[in-house]
Amino acid sequence: MIVRILGAGAGGGLPQWNCGCRNCQDARAGTLPQMTQSSVAVSADETAWVVLNASPDIRSQLGASPALAPSGLRGTPISSVILTNGDIDHIAGLLTLRERTAFEICATADILDILRENGVFRVLANDLVRYRRIELDAPFSAAGLTFRAFAVPGKVALFKEGDKVETAAMGGQTIGLEIHDGAKRLFYVPGCAALPDWLVAELARGDAVLFDGTVWEDDDMRRTGTGEKTGTRMGHLPMSGPEGSIVRLAGIPGQKIFIHINNTNPVLQPDSAERAALIAAGWRTAQDGMELRP
Ligand code: MLT
Ligand code: MN
Ligand code: ZN
Repeated sequence: MIVRILGAGAGGGLPQWNCGCRNCQDARAGTLPQMTQSSVAVSADETAWVVLNASPDIRSQLGASPALAPSGLRGTPISSVILTNGDIDHIAGLLTLRERTAFEICATADILDILRENGVFRVLANDLVRYRRIELDAPFSAAGLTFRAFAVPGKVALFKEGDKVETAAMGGQTIGLEIHDGAKRLFYVPGCAALPDWLVAELARGDAVLFDGTVWEDDDMRRTGTGEKTGTRMGHLPMSGPEGSIVRLAGIPGQKIFIHINNTNPVLQPDSAERAALIAAGWRTAQDGMELRP
């Protein structure tokens, strides 16, 4: 299996259009690598590809990925797009894939409902683009790989929030993916609100884990002066702290890579103590264009 990181950033990317935090300034100045928004491509044979989440940056992401270019006059090596939640950073790129080429969109009923409710997605040609409903915990195949979706603690998409929001709900609104090629197993969990024991045990089965790296501490935004919203409120657990991903996943044996990294996260600074701690704990951060073989 080959895994190509299309976008390592969280919603907003790095730099984010309206942000002047240190990381965003450094990315504009070219001293930090820029990150587009949350997306990954996986392939068993480097011929057929599955894209995990369609970010608003998918046009530039595909443009930067020769393996994902059409091989003929019109077409795509992308057989399927699998969605892990209904957030803008994971679905808006579908609108870029509208120019009449066949592929399938695989998502849970909850996420397919979002696409149905929002009429703008009807721009995807319904004679060519297939909607495939995936059930939790039922393996399915795409492009020669076996996938399994499983619920992880999370919340509904920002634009679906009501007055009361359950930030660590379990159901079809936020999923993780297990991807298997017959030899190696990858887990992809770009959004996750908590790491209960059963989820730690699942992820321990992976040869590689791409995991939610949105925030270092719950209050990264307050610390950087960029806002008041916490990671918890956004449905993302922190990397640090006793219940954070670094401590909770300390014992898992596979490669550990953070993805969906918010522009305010201090680990993006190469000389930060936070980055040193992350590396000392056996983690890496994803970068746009990075390729992995689990
Ligand atoms: C998130 O991951 O919290 C979302 O991408 C937020 C958003 O929709 O901007
Ligand atoms: Mn997001
Ligand atoms: Zn910023």
